[in-house]
Amino acid sequence: MATKETLFRRRDTGVFDARMARCHDELEWLFMELYDDRDALNTLEQAMAEAWAARSPELKKLDAAREADPGWYRRGNMFGMTMYTDLFAGDLKKLARKLPYLKEQKLTYLHLMPLLKMPHPHNDGGYAVEDFNQVDPALGTNADLAALTKKLRAAGISLCLDFVMNHTASSHEWARRAKAGDPCYQNFYHCFDDRTIPDQYERTVPQVFPNTAPGNFTWCEEMHKWVLTTFHPYQWDLNYRNPAVLVEMTRSMLNLANLGVEVLRIDAVPYIWKQLGTNCRNLPQVHTIVRIIRMVLETVCPAVILKGEVVMAPRELAAYFGTPDKPECHMLYSVSTMVNLWSALASRDVRLLKAQLDALNALGPQCWFVNYLRCHDDIGWGLDEDVERYLGIDPQLHKEFLYHFYEGRFEGSWAKGEVYNYDPATRDARSCGTTASLCGVEQALEQGSEAALQTALRRDLLMHGAMAFFKGFPMLNSGDEIGQLNGWGYKNDPDLAEDSRNLHRTRFNWDNAAKRSEPGTLQNELWQGLEALRELRSDPCFGPDAWFTTWDTHNNGVLGLVRRLDSGRTLAGVFNFTAEPQHLWLDALDGAYRDRRTGAAADVRDLWLQPYEMRVLVNE
Ligand code: GLC
Repeated sequence: MATKETLFRRRDTGVFDARMARCHDELEWLFMELYDDRDALNTLEQAMAEAWAARSPELKKLDAAREADPGWYRRGNMFGMTMYTDLFAGDLKKLARKLPYLKEQKLTYLHLMPLLKMPHPHNDGGYAVEDFNQVDPALGTNADLAALTKKLRAAGISLCLDFVMNHTASSHEWARRAKAGDPCYQNFYHCFDDRTIPDQYERTVPQVFPNTAPGNFTWCEEMHKWVLTTFHPYQWDLNYRNPAVLVEMTRSMLNLANLGVEVLRIDAVPYIWKQLGTNCRNLPQVHTIVRIIRMVLETVCPAVILKGEVVMAPRELAAYFGTPDKPECHMLYSVSTMVNLWSALASRDVRLLKAQLDALNALGPQCWFVNYLRCHDDIGWGLDEDVERYLGIDPQLHKEFLYHFYEGRFEGSWAKGEVYNYDPATRDARSCGTTASLCGVEQALEQGSEAALQTALRRDLLMHGAMAFFKGFPMLNSGDEIGQLNGWGYKNDPDLAEDSRNLHRTRFNWDNAAKRSEPGTLQNELWQGLEALRELRSDPCFGPDAWFTTWDTHNNGVLGLVRRLDSGRTLAGVFNFTAEPQHLWLDALDGAYRDRRTGAAADVRDLWLQPYEMRVLVNE
């Protein structure tokens, strides 16, 4: 006779079986099309069943809740932050004790920078992973991670972790076995005896770090072979043509899910499939793999969602969402709007930004974005060159203007930052610096000018305000809430000096954070401003079903955005990206409007904005 426990178990695996039945045909089809290897498919399915069996009842409960509420990550109250564990708190245990500070900001989403076992000191900020199944001992243990996710979950905060899919550290176990001559593990990577094939690749594959890590291959003396290293020489690209790579990586991904990670940021995902004669970016097989991963997650742990790191033009982005029937990522970083926000701020012209927002909007309703101003990476000036030319802007000159402007080397620039990976051949470069420093706070403090400081803070809040209005949800870079400045000291540390991204990867300043409740401090002003944005986002017009569009303001310095519900409730946000007062008007917007904050009546046909001012109007 079946006991209560076996009955429960049967019902339990029934859930897994039912989910598996839903996707099995497609999973098998895609896997066999890519690999034609039934044993490998069986191993994958076995790994899925094992991960399911190991998943805690608490997480299975979350799975059920999220299956019943699949739009949970699209709510208006989603508010994110990204940070390094060590820079913010020291380690995972200490970070857990800082939870009240995160709750005070009503966070619902926390992205911790890579924290799995990594070589020291050269690890590309943790993006060189030595063991995908183990937390780096310097930051804690797997048990610390599980304890943290549990605490965060109880506080309504979903933890996001990177899943660095494209490569491993050259000190990873697989790479060590490859170096020792094991052909099975050499097949986990792309290894070549001589330069014949590498040279063919170099003809079509662009460089990611032309300055700090030129070329796409590295000579490995132990192996006596060239190995493909798209990023740094110590990051070996994985060979996804080998099904064992996908199976093993999926196993590790499911391990993280079982430690309570709720969002997986699939790092550098466009790069995972290589094909000679192409640029090795965004190839169709990338999408087959992402689709397979999505089905694996939906079967084993549907509470877990995918965020794609796709630093590509909008026309490449749509494919990463898949189709409504066959979805891939749940959300993507909105890289192009981030870049265009900084471009608009420097040039006091919102036309390119508006064009990008329109291009993203045109991708369709399933698209959802993580909006941000700064993260751990540089700002790469990938603007839409066709739109630039159409507007009469010279793409090369504009790019040079931008990186000089943000390193503070352009007449009238308020910014303090640095250039990253300048390529003399193309005169291409990217920019580094914190939000506050790039907005002028650092320069104003150096000059001791209260007026300049106030202007800088207005710029900073304008940028945050516009970003929080976009489709998707806002994510702050830790420290931005207290106006953290550039950390120039990295130049004195030989392990950090080479990478100017370290300018904005600085230790969190808890003394400054304490000033957030002292009126009259810049920290308090930013804190209040961000609190007002969170209040704004509690408006029903930030709900998942709200309709979002740009709106003509008849002024190139002013961005107009509109959010509307089926009920007719409408918010109009207007943002002055210039240092002068601006006049604007919003035509064809029906009804009477008032200022959402002050309640004063507003005539949408005749509006003025102060320098860098943002206003939100509502039609009631
Ligand atoms: C991603 C990360 C970046 C890293 C690269 C290589 O782009 O954001 O910091 O250098 O991947 O892993």
